[in-house]
Amino acid sequence: MLRLLALSLCASFATAENGLSAWLRYAPLQGGQHFHSSVPSHIVALNSSTVSPVYIAGQELQQGLKSILGKQCNVHHAHYGGGSNIVVGTVAEYSKAYGALSSTPDLLDDGYLLDTIGNTVQIIGKNERGALYGAFAYLSKVAQGNFTKVAEVSNPSAPIRWTNEWDNLDGSIERGFAGNSNWFSNGSIVSNLTRTAEYARLLASIGINAVVVNNVNANASLLTPTNIEGLGRIADVMRPYGVQVGISLYFSSPTAGVKGQANLTNFDPLDESVVQWWSNVTDQIYEHVPDMAGYLVKANSEGQPGPLTYNRTLAEGANLFAKALQPHGGIVMFRAFVYNPLNETVWTADRANAQIEFFKPLDGEFDDNVVIQIKYGPIDFQVREPVSPLFANIPKSAVAIELQVTQEYLGQQCHLVYLGPLWKEILDYDLRVDNETSLVRNIISGERFNHSLGGYAGVSNVGTNETWIGSHMAMSNLYAYGRLAWDPTLDAQDVLQDWIRLTFNTNPSVIDAMTQISMESWPAYENYSGNLGVQTLTDILYTHFGPNPQTQDNTIWGQWTRADQKTIGMDRTVANGTGFAGNYPPEIAEMFENIATTPDNLLLWFHHVNYTQLLKSGQTVIQDFYDQHYAGAATAQTFTTLWESLQGKIDDERYYDQLFRQVFQAGHSLVWRDAIANFYYNLSGIPDEAKRVGNHPYRIEAESMELDGYEPYAVIPFEAASNFTAIVVSSNTTAGTAQTTITCPSGTYDVAVNYYDQYGGASHFVVSLANETIGEWTSNLKPWIGNSEGPRVLGHTPSIYIDGHSAMRITFSNVTVTKGDVLKIVGTPDGNDIAGLDYVSILPLGVVE
Ligand code: GCU
Repeated sequence: MLRLLALSLCASFATAENGLSAWLRYAPLQGGQHFHSSVPSHIVALNSSTVSPVYIAGQELQQGLKSILGKQCNVHHAHYGGGSNIVVGTVAEYSKAYGALSSTPDLLDDGYLLDTIGNTVQIIGKNERGALYGAFAYLSKVAQGNFTKVAEVSNPSAPIRWTNEWDNLDGSIERGFAGNSNWFSNGSIVSNLTRTAEYARLLASIGINAVVVNNVNANASLLTPTNIEGLGRIADVMRPYGVQVGISLYFSSPTAGVKGQANLTNFDPLDESVVQWWSNVTDQIYEHVPDMAGYLVKANSEGQPGPLTYNRTLAEGANLFAKALQPHGGIVMFRAFVYNPLNETVWTADRANAQIEFFKPLDGEFDDNVVIQIKYGPIDFQVREPVSPLFANIPKSAVAIELQVTQEYLGQQCHLVYLGPLWKEILDYDLRVDNETSLVRNIISGERFNHSLGGYAGVSNVGTNETWIGSHMAMSNLYAYGRLAWDPTLDAQDVLQDWIRLTFNTNPSVIDAMTQISMESWPAYENYSGNLGVQTLTDILYTHFGPNPQTQDNTIWGQWTRADQKTIGMDRTVANGTGFAGNYPPEIAEMFENIATTPDNLLLWFHHVNYTQLLKSGQTVIQDFYDQHYAGAATAQTFTTLWESLQGKIDDERYYDQLFRQVFQAGHSLVWRDAIANFYYNLSGIPDEAKRVGNHPYRIEAESMELDGYEPYAVIPFEAASNFTAIVVSSNTTAGTAQTTITCPSGTYDVAVNYYDQYGGASHFVVSLANETIGEWTSNLKPWIGNSEGPRVLGHTPSIYIDGHSAMRITFSNVTVTKGDVLKIVGTPDGNDIAGLDYVSILPLGVVE
């Protein structure tokens, strides 16, 4: 079966660039034949078991060199000949076959030695997994045309380098934007696990060593005997790649009536029958998955059950699983994402304090095989958050950082946001514990507080879509996650450029354009979504996608901005506010306590200020809001142009797919810009000094047109429509018409139409000028359905409403417009999609508004 898989992977190298091979395309290197002599002709993989990582390494090297250089190498599994070979294996196997190494490399578990000096390439792992990682590292160099001689030892920064996948047993994926689960369907594990094996291969190539396969909002029925057997099958296909399986647990499983398991009357972690229950189930799992990595537990969080129900501590809850896993060598990743609903009228209430309140008192009470898994910020994967202070507050506990590869709050793979720089800022942050250097990356590696456990959990949520994650460019985030977990000292741009060379090609103009877009993408997204530390101003009650700032406040969820007519921001000072700033070690606490020393980009995270508060830049808060939202959206427009410069320089398939997404992002960034700027203008009444906000000289509001079968519609939230108003068809079975006479001077213009694409139907629009059609389109957003066949679709969580998530823009370029022409739009509704229209912009060439 593995041989077949290897063949099918091989075949996929030569086929269309659909994204499936990601950075492991092994594209032929230009002039590859000239490098044949730089690479030995024989591969010695020192394990003949087809399910061993070393065997896989041999296959991978053979396929890779054939594909990249056109060089056919033979693979052997024992000492071979006297000539130059690529030898891959563990230190132990190497010594057996070739005698002891001249000097013993300083290798940690999973580490490798890659020595290309001399006429033999040595790839020697501390363990089998390390040997496979070394093989991938070598192939990565060859694929990038890098034949520099190296003798390097590479060790992982931390032992835990996992992904978390929020896959549900029914096949859906929470916060997944790329189709359904590759391994679950209809309550059980699918029989065809080809994609699962391919995913393990990708993960191995970036040093990821375990995957938690099911959602943190877990389902007890994962623990039926049939599903446990299924987990064994998943583990079997991942094991050859050195990837272990972990699972998320539902805390009250003992009382959930799991088929095939005893049903108890309580789930108290100190009750002997409960302890026994988990121990039995754990033993059963290890029978099928002898190398299971461990459990991930979300307890007493967002409605999930946990030990607090029985007045037991979170540590007692975590240790319940730790004890069951301990004999098998497994670990518990216990999530720190615990908080209670709060009341915003209480000035000192603060969700950001919850982790400290829950976990700090428990430091020292967790068993040795418990790791506290902490999101990078104290709230929830926002576009900018300060580092979670919990990293500095539980020195006696092993910790891991939770990063989100899937872009839940960051554009859901429909906006390009390269996250390497965000993660680097967090990982490089110095928390100054005890006034000493305390970089987050050294805390999570275990180095700072002397723990042998620690590391990384990346919420990836890949799906069945061929791009894995929902867009070709977003895969840079999965790649960067693995590379940074292995070595967080790497530079985010260098990592990105490795990815570009491997995923696309080595053409300098391709690398330059993609680098520019990617490196500018996080700042741009921050600017047009929520700057100054106010958080991503998305709709936190619905899709987490488009703008909706007012949903942050007046809820129990504590993602508050406390914006009113005069002021905005959370007062998290010790002196007057929630006290959160005081959770940091003194040097950091002092900095955040004072406005004067708080960086502008976190001002509203820590301080409640007037809109007229001056920033360090000399600008007021409100004017900076306006300016940055305009600047961010303007940058997003340049991404389209930059991307267009790639036509013909990369394959058409990926070029057009990403172009579609860049055009969407450019349009949606304007929706964001206008919504946020209008919202705060409306709230504060303070006009934009540059007179942009609320002033749109090129727009024709749909509601001001002559309507037939269309009627005005007051959009909620108001800021998601220009002039607060859109139009929708009067009957959802009949087309509507909106028309107007052009009053601008005759000339050539770009005509942009802002409309809404609701889920649950595919309405159709036709735009004409003087009865000549200038464009038509079907508004057909739908979630990914298994694969990318058919029209391109966006994978974000859809909206059934006319709002900031469904708002879209389409532009027709270089249209000849004559003064006096009748501009007409006919919208035909379909199903629940009522052909909503916001405005038309007649734009002089070069203007985007
Ligand atoms: C966020 C996310 C949820 C998820 C939760 C978690 O709130 O929106 O979908 O379950 O984080 O991380 O547990």
